[in-house]
Amino acid sequence: MNNTAGLNKVRVWDLPTRFFHWALAVGVIGLGVSGTVGGNAMVWHFRLGYTVLALLLFRLVWGVAGGRWSRFGAFAYGPQSLIGYLKGQSQPAHEVGHNPLGALSVFAMLGLLLAQAGSGLLSDDEIAFAGPLTSFVSNAAVGLATRFHTEVGKWMLLGLVALHLAAIIFYQRRQRKLVNAMLHGDKALVIDAPSSRDDWRSRTAATLILALCAGVVYWISGLQAPAL
Ligand code: HEM
Ligand code: HEM
Repeated sequence: MNNTAGLNKVRVWDLPTRFFHWALAVGVIGLGVSGTVGGNAMVWHFRLGYTVLALLLFRLVWGVAGGRWSRFGAFAYGPQSLIGYLKGQSQPAHEVGHNPLGALSVFAMLGLLLAQAGSGLLSDDEIAFAGPLTSFVSNAAVGLATRFHTEVGKWMLLGLVALHLAAIIFYQRRQRKLVNAMLHGDKALVIDAPSSRDDWRSRTAATLILALCAGVVYWISGLQAPAL
């Protein structure tokens, strides 16, 4: 933390969180495009789907082991805080990491993305592409997962991402430069707040965790139910 012009520079988003965010954004856009185009683009849909799944698993671990402001505990606000925030009773501490409304949308996006990726593993286009877990469950379950994936989750996700972008533009216009912080990691705050840890040790740990998550997803991608 360092004090310039009466403001405190605080590292809010560590490099692993920023990497996670921008890789996730690129991956999700690519998934929307490849899923909609279909055909040969499905090869890329699967590759990107596995990549996004690994990123999401990483974020779950980083929500416990990551930098201070990336931990879920740092933005798990109760209903009182959310109602107060919506009534305009924002506290300075809300501006450090995710504010109560932002936190709600983050949890919703992460949950929905996990459901979308999970249902993808169980989806089948009945032409050439079937998720790796389809052979473990009944046809009815595959049908349900595919319907969720292509008719429900997809639209809910589109809605949440649109809301996310609208909120970012709203705050940006009110001189709250949230995007800058997601790019270089720091916020200049009126209050004094501890920085997130973001040194080479934590970045190395993040790389190892991400590699482990990629390994788990690679293992899932190769699963096949034994023939009866
Ligand atoms: C498909 C596209 C996108 C998805 C799925 C997405 C998802 C997310 C998620 C999950 C977070 C929480 C980060 C964390 O704590 O791990 C987040 C935060 C954030 N995103 Fe995105 N994002 C997308 C695109 C964008 C774009 C295009 C921008 C800006 C131009 C952006 C700006 C931000 C900012 C500034 C935050 C931090 C918000 C805060 O301070 O509370 N996102 N996004
Ligand atoms: C967050 C991650 C994901 C997103 C946002 C996503 C999005 C989409 C979209 C938009 C479609 C096209 C829906 C339509 O037909 O209109 C689709 C189809 C499909 N996706 Fe995903 N997907 C994701 C992850 C996955 C994963 C991990 C897999 C499998 C490993 C997968 C397998 C499939 C399959 C098999 C289809 C074709 C279903 C059909 O046409 O009946 N998806 N996905």
